[in-house]
Amino acid sequence: LARGAGTPDLTGRHVVVSAGGTREPLDPVRFLGNRSSGKQGYALARTAAARGARVTLLSANAGLPDPAGVDVVHVGTAVQLREAALKAAGDADAVVMAAAVADFRPETYATGKIKKKDGEEPAPIALVRNPDILAEISAGRPRPGQVVVGFAAETDDVLANGRAKLARKGCDLLVVNEVGERKTFGAEENEAVILGSDGTENPVPYGPKEALADRIWDAVVSRLPHQE
Ligand code: CTP
Ligand code: CA
Repeated sequence: LARGAGTPDLTGRHVVVSAGGTREPLDPVRFLGNRSSGKQGYALARTAAARGARVTLLSANAGLPDPAGVDVVHVGTAVQLREAALKAAGDADAVVMAAAVADFRPETYATGKIKKKDGEEPAPIALVRNPDILAEISAGRPRPGQVVVGFAAETDDVLANGRAKLARKGCDLLVVNEVGERKTFGAEENEAVILGSDGTENPVPYGPKEALADRIWDAVVSRLPHQE
């Protein structure tokens, strides 16, 4: 059977990809967010569709146009992303969590805009933990043989931290980026190592996000159970 980019090796499969970054509201006009552009997740959605998959893209504040032929679900917060991910994962052959999920959210949401008052110091913002969506899906595996993929951006001890994170999350593959000088958020190109829970370590050289996406789908396809 032919494999790789340009071959329909995901035909008959349903894949779920999350992209972008969650925003955790403080009040109707403010949020805690992050710098994820969503480009890597959108590249994953486009390349999976090109390889024949039915694709559900869970898009968190990416601000990118919906890719053709992809079911897009727009979400805002980590809690909304979790709900959409658990729903979509139910019949998915693979789940790829490329979104940057906020680890914390404000404990309370002010229904009216927070106003400053003369002579008063600002109140501290109390935070609570968000659910870990990747760990929950990895532990639950709603569909037998489902392949679960996580992402990690690390600044130091990239491979050691990646290995530890892979084990902690319980996923099958972890795509680890080193965050540094030319590797800025929002860039068109990326460099990564794809770590497998089976001990594999697959470096992907600096290049377009589509190329990394195709290497990730290669790793997913090689782990999928045969189709009935
Ligand atoms: N992730 C998730 N839910 C969260 C946090 C992270 O599903 N609440 C997923 C991300 O989508 C990513 C992977 O977990 O695929 C790793 O995210 P990362 O932030 O690197 O992991 P954390 O466990 O939050 O570790 P750290 O303390 O380094 O941020
Ligand atoms: Ca985190």
